Amino acid sequence: MSKHLTIIDHPLVQHKLSLMRRKETPSATFRQLLWETSMLLAYEVTRDLPLTTISLDTPLCRMQAPVIDGKKLALVSILRAGNGLLDGLLEVIPAARVGFVGLYRDEETLEPVEYYLKVPPQLDQRLVIAVDPMLATGNSSVAAIERLKREGANDLRMLCLLAAPEGVERMKEAHPDVPIFTAALDEKLNERGYIVPGLGDAGDRMFGTN
Ligand code: URA
Repeated sequence: MSKHLTIIDHPLVQHKLSLMRRKETPSATFRQLLWETSMLLAYEVTRDLPLTTISLDTPLCRMQAPVIDGKKLALVSILRAGNGLLDGLLEVIPAARVGFVGLYRDEETLEPVEYYLKVPPQLDQRLVIAVDPMLATGNSSVAAIERLKREGANDLRMLCLLAAPEGVERMKEAHPDVPIFTAALDEKLNERGYIVPGLGDAGDRMFGTN
């Protein structure tokens, strides 16, 4: 895996993303669309997983059939918005182990502070896919990936729905070994750190808070 940024431009993904961007879209519809989209994103983020073959008997004959080879998967949700991507990913990859990283921003230092961490064992032997719908400044993604590396992860991917150029750059500097997958690369961040045009606060859109 050498490409640092992959934009998943499948028409179904783009269509659903546009519906999610619309400010009138209610939370229930937003969550449904995010769930549907995350299943489509799952195809792309796992597209290059290596295959091996197993022998099996169909009702007609014996054959060598392809199955996924190699490392087991861990999905790690960056709280809280990551959970919106997690559910759909688990529909498609039900055997994946799941972890959570919770970070908040210290209002004085502006540094991310960890408030929760629970990850599966043997992260060093897994492909770890960290999920957060919005890659904005990149501060929390960079910190979450650092934390996962300290837990042993050495084969990581970052999956989001929307990215800002600033966040992609920051991730590239801090973690050039971690490829990013996103449905769109938006124009910029505004002065409050929101992605523009974006879709607003993903957690608020999902859960009806603000
Ligand atoms: N987080 C969000 O939920 N939305 C943004 O636009 C930026 C960060």
